Amino acid sequence: MSDQQEMTARRPDTTRLQGIARAYTQSAVLFAAIDAELFTHVRNGAVTETALVEATGLRPIDVNRLVSCALTMDLLRWSDTSSTPELSEPELVNAPDVDAYLVKGEARYAGPWMTFTRPDVPKWFEMTELMRDQRGTHLGMYEELTVESARKYHQATSSIGFGAARRFVKTVDLRGRRHLLDLGGGSGAYSITAVERFEELRATVLDLPPVVVATKEYIEDAGVSDRVDTVGADFTVGEFPGPVDVVVMASNLPIYDGEVIAGVVARAFRVLESGGEMHLIGEMLTDDRTGPIDAAMWGMNELICGSLGRSHTEGECAGYFEAAGFTDVEVTEFVPGVLSRCFGIKPPAVPQR
Ligand SMILES: C[S@@+](CC[C@H](N)C(=O)[O-])C[C@H]1O[C@@H](n2cnc3c(N)ncnc32)[C@H](O)[C@@H]1O
Repeated sequence: MSDQQEMTARRPDTTRLQGIARAYTQSAVLFAAIDAELFTHVRNGAVTETALVEATGLRPIDVNRLVSCALTMDLLRWSDTSSTPELSEPELVNAPDVDAYLVKGEARYAGPWMTFTRPDVPKWFEMTELMRDQRGTHLGMYEELTVESARKYHQATSSIGFGAARRFVKTVDLRGRRHLLDLGGGSGAYSITAVERFEELRATVLDLPPVVVATKEYIEDAGVSDRVDTVGADFTVGEFPGPVDVVVMASNLPIYDGEVIAGVVARAFRVLESGGEMHLIGEMLTDDRTGPIDAAMWGMNELICGSLGRSHTEGECAGYFEAAGFTDVEVTEFVPGVLSRCFGIKPPAVPQR
């Protein structure tokens, strides 16, 4: 009997369902650990519970609770040397991903992104009422955006956006390309990283008017103002500035329904030169919609944020490209389990007889 058959044959119990019912406890512990700068203190040498009490100012019992949770969630681990007899108290280390992304002050610190959706927590538990309300606006949370909220928002997105953008320029060869249009480019992560990597390239970040004020600040900080410009506009309406030979749209997908995304892809097709390429990067479901969970949850997030968006499958995204006229359409894994990339080429125009 295979493992799978054995699992199916086994009498069901409540373990998995209880885990799902109480999954929120893990989010809450992660937020509290970030608040207490637990992982930063561990990296800085507070590697025992006694030292953590001192460093965090928390009661010993709460440090004990927090450390137990963090150990069981594999956020903290016992160090290899903890079994050494001369150590009076066992020592802790951060798990590798925690050490890379949750130590404050480090370049890759992603605390702002990890806690970005924290204010939405109460609304997730009002989901039933929100669904019965049947409200929702075209732009959802973006309707109310101000320059200040856009700055705060992109402090969070940039903490992971630049990493994704570095992955993009390593995966996609843009040598010979001249102008990239970055739809909903936010912090400008993709445009900035792409012009830094490909010296002949220029880029235009198109985002909502309050956002591009913040975008310009990122562009200036990176010292690429001479090669990256901005346009304040709503990408769901109107034609795009061009011509361009590359269009990128990253991490906007579930904000909109199929009609809107298909419309954006069609207008991107129109602004591209023949032979140009488009990349749509986003959380996509497999065609049978059995995963990944995160893609489905970003779709549900739009209920919470009050838009009419939903998650899209890989096949649907490929369909938007094909309907627009793109060829060589393919969907590949971009960040495993998180983001996929749909790609297409605008074919040369067929000469009119
Ligand atoms: C999650 S952020 C992604 C930013 C960037 N592409 C990245 O990957 O780092 C989504 C961005 O899409 C922009 N956006 C959403 N709807 C938009 C619209 N209708 N027109 C223009 N920009 C839009 C938002 O303002 C925000 O900057």
